[in-house]
Amino acid sequence: MKTDKTLIFFSIILVLMVSLIYLFANGFGIKSANEKIDFGAFEMTIPHDWKKVEFKGIDGYVGGITNGIDSLTFDYSWYSYDFNYENGETQLFATDTINGKIALLTKPKKVGNGTIGIYIEKAYKKNRFNLIGYNIDNENLIFNIFKSIKFKDSDTSLNSRKIEFSNKIKPYSGRSLFYANCASCHHRNKSMIGPAFSGINELEFKKWILDSTGLTKKDTAGFGISYHRKTFGKLLTEKEIEKLIEYSKAE
Ligand code: HEC
Repeated sequence: MKTDKTLIFFSIILVLMVSLIYLFANGFGIKSANEKIDFGAFEMTIPHDWKKVEFKGIDGYVGGITNGIDSLTFDYSWYSYDFNYENGETQLFATDTINGKIALLTKPKKVGNGTIGIYIEKAYKKNRFNLIGYNIDNENLIFNIFKSIKFKDSDTSLNSRKIEFSNKIKPYSGRSLFYANCASCHHRNKSMIGPAFSGINELEFKKWILDSTGLTKKDTAGFGISYHRKTFGKLLTEKEIEKLIEYSKAE
């Protein structure tokens, strides 16, 4: 008798488990079904309960995706925002390769309290791209959307294994280096606190930032050579200075 009861007991458990697994698999299947959304020059994969929103941009293509609670907006144009106004005290930054495109990522230090976004400088055909949201708790979901972004010429075999966030924008182009480090005092084409960037001689860049010799007393006052060397000498690598020089000469 006892074995019979045990047998019935385990059969019931088994049936329950199988049906639970079945339910879970189905339910989960519906919830996690992702949808590939085509935006023309690019596509991204978003969860089933998110949908595409499009606005009419003046100079470019602006739109977004939303689930009714959270939303991300994108700007695919020459003017895309590259996070240079983000606050380094509350935001973290990382560079990442996503489907062959170098991307700058930002997220708030406190989850759900700030900007979460991706910026791609060389998106497609000279356009820049960003996709940005604010105060979103589910960072994993957002980063999965970011990782799914593909442009027409994206190489899906090239992806960073790991994203490492830090307090500083780790810029990868002369332009973003300039905005992150120099634009508070230098304008590209006109004189501000410092001289116009485009007018600075190539050798001056190296002398002002990389050299460690030949400081005169006069140099140590204000925002002179001494300031530049102290502030940027360790921060920027020689390669990054080269990029800045390139940027100062571009166009
Ligand atoms: C806090 C303000 C400030 C920031 C930030 C700043 N600069 Fe300057 N920079 C100046 C000022 C002011 C001068 C002119 C100083 C002088 O002539 O004594 C100057 C001069 C220079 C010069 C010398 C130009 C010449 O022809 O003599 C170079 C090169 C330069 N800056 C590069 C940079 C670069 C590169 C960055 C960013 C990585 C940068 N600066 C960030 C204020 C700044």
